[in-house]
Amino acid sequence: MDKLLISGGVPLDGEVRISGAKNAALPVVIASLLTDQALVVHNIPHLQDITTALELLGHLGVRVQVDDRFAIEVNAAQLTSRRAPYELVRTMRASILVLGPLLARFGEAEVSLPGGCAIGSRPVDLHIKGFEMMGAEVSVEEGYIKAKVNGRRLSGTKIVFDTVTVTGTENLMMAATLARGTTILENAAREPEVVDLARCLIKMGARIHGAGTGLIEIEGVDRLTGAEHRVIPDRIEAGTYLAAAAATGGRIRLCGIDARLLEAVLGKLTEMGAGVSIEEDAVQLHVKEGRLQATDLRTQPFPGFPSDMQAQFILLNAIASGAATVTETVFENRFMHVQELQRMGADIELRGHTALVRGVETLSGAQVMATDLRASACLVLAGLVAEGQTVVDRIYHIDRGYDCIEEKLAQCGARIRRVSRGQYPHAASVS
Ligand code: UD1
Repeated sequence: MDKLLISGGVPLDGEVRISGAKNAALPVVIASLLTDQALVVHNIPHLQDITTALELLGHLGVRVQVDDRFAIEVNAAQLTSRRAPYELVRTMRASILVLGPLLARFGEAEVSLPGGCAIGSRPVDLHIKGFEMMGAEVSVEEGYIKAKVNGRRLSGTKIVFDTVTVTGTENLMMAATLARGTTILENAAREPEVVDLARCLIKMGARIHGAGTGLIEIEGVDRLTGAEHRVIPDRIEAGTYLAAAAATGGRIRLCGIDARLLEAVLGKLTEMGAGVSIEEDAVQLHVKEGRLQATDLRTQPFPGFPSDMQAQFILLNAIASGAATVTETVFENRFMHVQELQRMGADIELRGHTALVRGVETLSGAQVMATDLRASACLVLAGLVAEGQTVVDRIYHIDRGYDCIEEKLAQCGARIRRVSRGQYPHAASVS
């Protein structure tokens, strides 16, 4: 298993190009299931989750072609299966997104229940409830969600989500594009990735209004067509590099990112004392004199502070001057990085859904273990600031969501390198 070796203490200084958003690319490639024509998707990031999604589509019979600039053409003209198997769903919960398109186009689908998850129970009950309201019969048998529609076509209806759910909104929005009549999604997720998916679906002929607000209206059509779409940049990747530069007291310029996607994160970085400047297609950050100031925050659905940036900001508070509380309201049990940070010398106390973080002057390098995607990013950042060497284990989590992370950080001067099992522990230094 690969590990990352990091020698801390170097302020980052450089430029990073932001990749396409994982959470936008996944639903967009899966939307290809809604049509028998080709969908061409640009700006797809090189990530394990994308590979898994394409593998899943391939398993269903979708023809996938990748060109030399990594644009992907997905064509679901001839499907051979309507079943998403456990082996693929268990490695990526977003596989649940095939349920809506398959059900809408073919009137039947089977998707393995995702099972346990490192960041809480993460049920899919709201997806299922929505499909039932649209006329599907759904049962859970032998670990699979089995859904079918009598008469093959879902019916539009009004669905009010009890909780804001990103993939739940995307799944039902995709299903509703081919339903009979109009579907109204209330308390819908407003994340930019939902808006990006809606833009792609509209290019495919869908009639969708209100994406980006809490109320989305979808007028079903008889069929969708092929289209060409470029996914938006990854705001979480961007936020992570900004946090890395802030943590190391350095400077960074991110290109290929729209600062409007990052308002909550940029607001907090500014509050902490970092200098931020915004260009048309780029964002720069530099740390002024002295330490960052600790800042309270609460995660919220968009446009609030993203849960996917919570771990990175716990790290920033852990080395800032003063104390702050970080409250996680989106997921239960999303504090697994805290124990690892404590092993590096951080002073963090957990009280239910809130972490009380008291800033310390330095962290010390240690062997730490990644537990989920964003927790592992936080540990890499901790390694960049810690004194001495940090070894981050189980980095397959990071490969699910960060495109070339060690190359991008090394390009800004970080001393970081990947070692595979055979090379470790003889590889002693990363300088
Ligand atoms: C998506 C993102 C993930 C991000 C999260 C919150 C993708 C592929 N992943 O995950 O990176 O951290 O949004 O911004 O886009 N819930 C239910 N029942 C359901 C569905 C959700 O109770 O049927 C709960 C969840 O347990 C959680 C909350 O709703 O507490 C939000 O989850 P949700 O927005 O669905 O997260 P994902 O879409 O899985």
